[in-house]
Amino acid sequence: MIYTLTGFMGCGKTSVGRALAERLGWEFIDLDEYIEHKLGRSISTVFATEGEEKFRAVEAEAVRDVIIMHQLTGTDLVLALGGGTLTIAPVQPLILEQTSCVYLRATADSLREWVKGSTDRPLLASADFDALLQSRIPIYEKAGTIIDVDSLSYDDVVNTLLG
Ligand code: S3P
Repeated sequence: MIYTLTGFMGCGKTSVGRALAERLGWEFIDLDEYIEHKLGRSISTVFATEGEEKFRAVEAEAVRDVIIMHQLTGTDLVLALGGGTLTIAPVQPLILEQTSCVYLRATADSLREWVKGSTDRPLLASADFDALLQSRIPIYEKAGTIIDVDSLSYDDVVNTLLG
């Protein structure tokens, strides 16, 4: 089984993913880290030199890699997606149908607070924060599970998910 974690930048996908994988004794993969390893370049560099479209193509390929790896090995894993991964049309059905997708939902105020000082997220500099969030909410809401994380610790989120 694969748990995927989705939600806007800053919602805690990586930290919750790590905590969840640890609790379950499963493998953990952070998609952004996976991409950076695969390319040998930071995401900021890819955005700056090749643009967002190229990044999305690489991101889609990375999702396919991870799902194929899981199918071949049968390894249970937790995959923290990037904030934009679920918006990529060709991989959205793959994520929604082949994985158990969890949306870590937070208010715009919380998210703004949680990304404060972040320097490695190119879209924070180039996009309109509120407009981007609003455009993505209906996409995130396609996830099979939604958890409101504003006042929850990472462990609380894991407890909520696992019951
Ligand atoms: C992005 C979110 C980032 C990263 C890239 C694009 C987005 O991941 O994939 O900068 O489109 O929202 P996090 O959500 O982990 O910050």
